[in-house]
Order: sequence, then C-alpha cells, then structure tokens
Amino acid sequence: IKVTYVAHDGTETTVEAEEGTSVMQAAVSHDVEGIVGECGGSMMCATCHCYVDRAWQDRATPRSEDETDMLEGAASEVTERSRLSCQIKLDKSLDGLVVHLPEEQL
Ligand code: FES
Repeated sequence: IKVTYVAHDGTETTVEAEEGTSVMQAAVSHDVEGIVGECGGSMMCATCHCYVDRAWQDRATPRSEDETDMLEGAASEVTERSRLSCQIKLDKSLDGLVVHLPEEQL
C-alpha cells in the first residue's frame, strides 16, 4: 500500500507499507522525517499529527472523539483535516494515500 508523505517544505516521500499497519508506523519504519510517534500508537502523545490530503479526506475513517481531544495537544495548527496518523490503519482502499506533515510535532 503506497503512502506519500508531504513534508512541510514540500518534499514528498512515498513508501510501500504493509496492509494493517498505521500511517504512523509506516513513516517510522521507513525513516520518514516529520512524524515522531512518541507513544508508539496508543493515542497518548499527538506527535504523529498529520493532515489528510483533500482528495483522501472522505476515504479515511473519521476521527474519533478521543483522537480529537488528543489533537488539542498537538504542536502545530489543528484543522478539520488533522489526524493522529497512528489512528489511520492502512488497507487497500487507502492505496495511494497522501498526507501532509505539520511544521513541528513537539
Ligand atoms: Fe502517539 Fe499517535 S503515536 S498519538
């Protein structure tokens, strides 16, 4: 499953991720800069903040209430496209997903 990460400076990195992993895990295991994932995916840190690309907004699972609460602690601006990338699980329907990374995570 292909995922493209667009860094704040516009640099794009595309990785081939395993189905069932999260957008955060895929970034960390491929050394994509801009996603920290400090808590390892347990929705406790907000250092895996990303913005789902407009074209994909409707296809990603909606954000949960707990996720929205945790995003309040994110270091960068939170918008309606903000997600915790550890909460986006990759399956075939998300093949080609594009996410944008915030300026800072900490
Ligand atoms: Fe900590 Fe996503 S990795 S909230």
